[in-house]
Amino acid sequence: MKFSSELCATALFALPALATPVMEKRATPTIYLAGDSTMANKGANDGATNGWGEYLNKYVTVPVVNKALGGRSARSYSNEGRFTEIAGLLKSGDIVVIEFGHNDGGSPTSSTDNGRSDCPGTAEETCISGKDGSTVYTFGHYVKAAAKTFIAKGATVVVSSQTPNNLWEGGSFSTSAPRFVAYAAQAGKEIGTGGSFVDHFQAVLNAYRKLGNTATNALYPNDHTHTSPAGADLSAQAFAQAIKLNLNGTTPIASYLKSGNPTVW
Ligand SMILES: *[C@@H]1O[C@H](CO)[C@@H](O)[C@H](O)[C@H]1NC(C)=O
Repeated sequence: MKFSSELCATALFALPALATPVMEKRATPTIYLAGDSTMANKGANDGATNGWGEYLNKYVTVPVVNKALGGRSARSYSNEGRFTEIAGLLKSGDIVVIEFGHNDGGSPTSSTDNGRSDCPGTAEETCISGKDGSTVYTFGHYVKAAAKTFIAKGATVVVSSQTPNNLWEGGSFSTSAPRFVAYAAQAGKEIGTGGSFVDHFQAVLNAYRKLGNTATNALYPNDHTHTSPAGADLSAQAFAQAIKLNLNGTTPIASYLKSGNPTVW
């Protein structure tokens, strides 16, 4: 036993000399957010709504850089080079949250392909855009490809399921989840080391169930997707609570939650 622990110690001391130069590590990590209007700063640009990414800094002890942009899907965020831009900013130890789904549906093979719809499926299926003939990949492909570039930079990745639409629309409570929630869970798992998943959809669903019909409807001033600043803050609180409760799985953000965050379900 003594022999093997000595061996271990020797190996540990020998490592730095053998390893490739370690990337500069920040004293505290930065959390980068990649997503759509429901996460973005003034996502819908209508003056009445905001994205939840703007409120996350109230609930974590480390800086948050919100790179979410309205109208984007995993596909268009990839093709516009926005994941690449984040990869260029990362330092070892940083954390990237990837949350898409609201703009990822629809048919890429249609002649009116909007550049956002992913190829249906959960693996390496491909489609051909009916508009410009380009190859279109699945939601999981785009997310996992981005995660790979982030992890190569020494970062870790949290795949977050999309926020729900108004689950009390019409006065009765719905619990049905869009397929991108399961896709996000699967992508988080398939990333492997350095990847994790948080069920933000389920967290906000839990919060809305507790809040009830009238109060939830009041968070949607314009449509059933974009919330008021108060609704966005609630989504950030639900996210932080999901991280705290490891819903579903442990994420690197768990180490950086403020104490005394609100309990919303
Ligand atoms: C996450 O866990 C919750 C609670 O167990 C469960 O209801 C939910 O379906 C899970 N989410 C996914 C995407 O599997």
